[in-house]
Amino acid sequence: MIICRVLLEQRPSGVPPGPTALPVLGNLHLFREDPRRVLEQLREKYGDIYSIYFGKELAVVIHGFDKIKEAFVKHGDVFSGRPSNRLTEQVCPDKGLITLSGEKWRKERTLTIQALGDLGFRKALIEGRVCKEISCFVNLLEENVEAPFDICLPIHTSISNVICSFILGKRFEHGDQTFQDYISRLLANYRAAGATAALNYLPFLDYLPGDLFKFKKTLHNIFYIVDFIRTIVQDHLITYDRSNVRDFIDAYVKRVEDSGSELNEEQLTHAISHLFVAGTESVSTAIRWILLYLCKFPDVQERIHSEIDSALAAEEPVAWDDRDRLPFTMATTMEVMRHADLAPLGVAHSATEDTHFRGHFIPKGTMIIPYMHGVLHDKQFWGDPEKFRPQRFLNEEGSTVIPEQYVPYAIGRRTCLGEHLAKMEIFLFVASILKKFSIMLADGPQPELSDSKMGLTVAPMPFKLVFSKR
Ligand code: HEM
Repeated sequence: MIICRVLLEQRPSGVPPGPTALPVLGNLHLFREDPRRVLEQLREKYGDIYSIYFGKELAVVIHGFDKIKEAFVKHGDVFSGRPSNRLTEQVCPDKGLITLSGEKWRKERTLTIQALGDLGFRKALIEGRVCKEISCFVNLLEENVEAPFDICLPIHTSISNVICSFILGKRFEHGDQTFQDYISRLLANYRAAGATAALNYLPFLDYLPGDLFKFKKTLHNIFYIVDFIRTIVQDHLITYDRSNVRDFIDAYVKRVEDSGSELNEEQLTHAISHLFVAGTESVSTAIRWILLYLCKFPDVQERIHSEIDSALAAEEPVAWDDRDRLPFTMATTMEVMRHADLAPLGVAHSATEDTHFRGHFIPKGTMIIPYMHGVLHDKQFWGDPEKFRPQRFLNEEGSTVIPEQYVPYAIGRRTCLGEHLAKMEIFLFVASILKKFSIMLADGPQPELSDSKMGLTVAPMPFKLVFSKR
């Protein structure tokens, strides 16, 4: 009995309570169903802060806006690390951006923000690139009106092109097979993320024959994408001219030169691949969700159509400045982001040192999981969180309001670095499409909003749309 107890109970003293961990598996066996349901059940039993084991790795889950904010904002210096991960250790050990921790991460994040700022990341340049992609995407829709059309690959191509054009100084045509191959590999990795995570915590599974958990395939896809970026970085370095900054790569190199440091080409390659990965699937999936919701709620689609018709001139393209004239459209995009909830568990952080939080001991290296789904669906705050109701983001004057609890881009020091770009892309794409087209679901698979695929993000099930010119 005692041996069993010692084998099972691994928690260091003082760490938050949690379910008994099995040898080898830890608590992984609990995650056979939707992780959101599992974490909510654990909260009922153990309260807002509890711990679980992924294999041998200790993780602390934090529920509730106030507690997540306290951890990530007030104690952001301690809770802004990233847990180590077998996949990233093999691909970009101590390099990149999203996976870095400590001083290295702080420096890299600052450098990235500065280089993006030098390019006018928040200004007209970016809007121009987004609008160029919208015009190509709308042309594609015009070629396919009144016919069932799957926007999945085209929207990923357009959104990825936005990133490519200002980071790599390059865009790709929709029919470009090589580029579509990169996008398909990126999407495959996003969807395989759940399976590959198992190998992070149970490395012995590596010895099974074949590639049951898609770990090798995922690695292969990542190396393929990183090689593609490395070639472009190397080309840039040959033609680099500090008096003619063409894109993010040039701006980054110039910043490094100005600081008197030596350029680390591999670091730059991985930082770019992280921007490419973070900035493509998330925004494209958000736009796909929004269009799907608009088919499921035709009254909302109709209200957006009439808002656009009365606020904008028929011949003018939609601009980012129009968002105040289209508050209901803006509120709808926000409500989909809240209701569909692309990143329900945020992105895991880690504790960079031994610490205490709300009376619990948290050892250095512990993974910290913010339960963001609970914040976006908190009944006490939102009242009717399961209801799709864009009006909740409008005040009495009809302007959009953004409560602090609206956290699809997370909070604290590691908050999404592309939030501004993402909001602009989502608004401009959705308003521009709706200005020109009515949308309905094509015959065939009719996905329910409650059905989704959980990978690195939560994506809708496949569907096709029919676009009709207005
Ligand atoms: C709908 C679109 C998007 C959503 C929902 C989203 C959401 C998030 C979330 C939840 C995080 C984790 C924050 C944390 O660790 O606490 C994150 C991080 C990040 N996002 Fe986004 N994101 C989106 C678009 C973008 C875009 C367009 C870019 C690129 C330009 C981008 C770049 C990043 C980067 C680089 C990080 C890591 C920041 C760091 O580790 O310091 N994201 N995002």
